[in-house]
Amino acid sequence: MTTRVAVLVSGTGRHLENFAGLARSGELDIEVGLVISNKAGVLALEHAARFGLEALVLDPSRELDDATFGQEAFSAIEAAGCELVLLAGFLRKLDIPRSWAGRVLNIHPSLLPAFGGKGFYGSRVHRAVIERGCWITGCTVHYVDDEYDHGPILLQRACEVARDDTVESLATRVFAGELLAYPEAIRLHLSRGSD
Ligand code: GRF
Repeated sequence: MTTRVAVLVSGTGRHLENFAGLARSGELDIEVGLVISNKAGVLALEHAARFGLEALVLDPSRELDDATFGQEAFSAIEAAGCELVLLAGFLRKLDIPRSWAGRVLNIHPSLLPAFGGKGFYGSRVHRAVIERGCWITGCTVHYVDDEYDHGPILLQRACEVARDDTVESLATRVFAGELLAYPEAIRLHLSRGSD
C-alpha cells in the first residue's frame, strides 16, 4: 500500500523534487501528502506547487519555541494522514513526539558520526572533509532523535574525495549519491516495517 509522507524543507528542495518525481513515476511507493517549510519564498515551495502538493509555511519568522513548532508541525502531519516524515534540507530543530519515534528520517551529507552535529550543514561539511584530508566521504540516512545527526543509521553511501576536489565539486558528487541513497533508505524502511 502506498505510504503517505510529509516532507520538511527549508531551501532548494532537490530531494522533495526527487521524491515527487519518483512517486509520480511509481518508482517509489510513496505519496507526498504534505510539504512543510519553515521558510517562505523558497524554491522547495515552487517544486511543491509544480507537483500539486499541499504545502504549509510554518513559523517563518521563528516566533515559536522548538516544542511548540514540533507540536504544530506534527498536528498538521497527522491531519494530512501522513505516516512517515522525511527531513530533506530542513534546517531547524524538530522536537518529535514519542509516538513518532522511528518514523522520521533525515539525510546528512557525510558518513556519520563523522562531520555531523550542530553547525555541520551544507558546504561546511564538505569543507571540513577536505581540510581533514579525507579520501572518502558520502551521505547517511538516519532516524531522527532529539540530538542533531545522532539517531540510528539506516543506510550510508560512500564516495571518493578526489585530490583536486573543491567544496563545490565534492558537494556535487555527494549529492548525486544522496539522490540514490534516500529513496533506497525509504524502501528499506518500508520493507522492514512490513516484515
Ligand atoms: C543535502 O545536502 C542534504 O544532505 C541536506 O540538505 C541538502 C539537500 O537540500 N540535509 P535540498 O533537498 O536541496 O533542499
